[in-house]
Amino acid sequence: MTVLIRGKELAEKIVDEIEKEVKNYDKKPGLTVIIVGENPASKVYVNKKKKTAEKAGFNSEVIELPETVSQQELENYIDNLNNNPAVDGILVQLPLPGHINAYDIIEKINPEKDVDGFHPVNAGKLVTGLNPYAVSCTPYGIVRLLEENNIEIEGKNAVVIGRSNIVGKPLASLLLNRNATVTVCHSRTKNLKEICSRADILVAAVGRAKLVKADWVKPGAAVIDVGMNRTEDGKLAGDVDFDEVSEKAGYITPVPGGVGPMTIAILLFNTLKLFKLHN
Ligand code: GUN
Repeated sequence: MTVLIRGKELAEKIVDEIEKEVKNYDKKPGLTVIIVGENPASKVYVNKKKKTAEKAGFNSEVIELPETVSQQELENYIDNLNNNPAVDGILVQLPLPGHINAYDIIEKINPEKDVDGFHPVNAGKLVTGLNPYAVSCTPYGIVRLLEENNIEIEGKNAVVIGRSNIVGKPLASLLLNRNATVTVCHSRTKNLKEICSRADILVAAVGRAKLVKADWVKPGAAVIDVGMNRTEDGKLAGDVDFDEVSEKAGYITPVPGGVGPMTIAILLFNTLKLFKLHN
């Protein structure tokens, strides 16, 4: 029997708990999201972040900047937010336009307001096993899903497909810190299918629709799908071929309703954590 891991349900529980906690405070946690340009997927994500933050009782602001914004202008916005005591968390939605140096933008954010956990201080703390001010939302959401479903991590073979700074690398650290044996695969990996077929925990975060097939999956494995791809017919598809793989996996996340809602729930969790650090 395959267990469907409904991230949406756990995410709603986390958001409800945050909402209750926030009611106890006489100040509201403040989250500001900066979005640059017109990327339709980014707009959808940012709207969801704002709506959920408001539902939880946060002050939530979205700063929309044109595609043509300069590096200096964007850094000035971040400086202002760093100095604004009503702002606990700053999130710059990625990707940024090509003329912007995203690394410099991330480094400009005060690590104590870095809700994404992307700043080198937070990323470095995560790798070295220290406590980051915030841990990247999607990877931490995945670990929460594994823990909630009593999926053992310690001593298990975990394979992460994708080496992004947003998901693959921080997730590898989180799993390694929990004593998994971690393999990170990427576009130059040889024998990808064979490596995946040894995974007890398989996480796909590459952005290739239905890449992971049933014969890539060990029977009973936990399969976590981070993909959000549009297929040619306009449908939403994960990185995992759900119909095939759900017959073989022990646990599987759906797309949508799996990892996505957890990313937002952890974003609020991180904002609340930073709010408590600042107050
Ligand atoms: N783009 C895709 N996922 C994320 C995320 O978790 N944070 C930010 N800032 N941008 C993203």
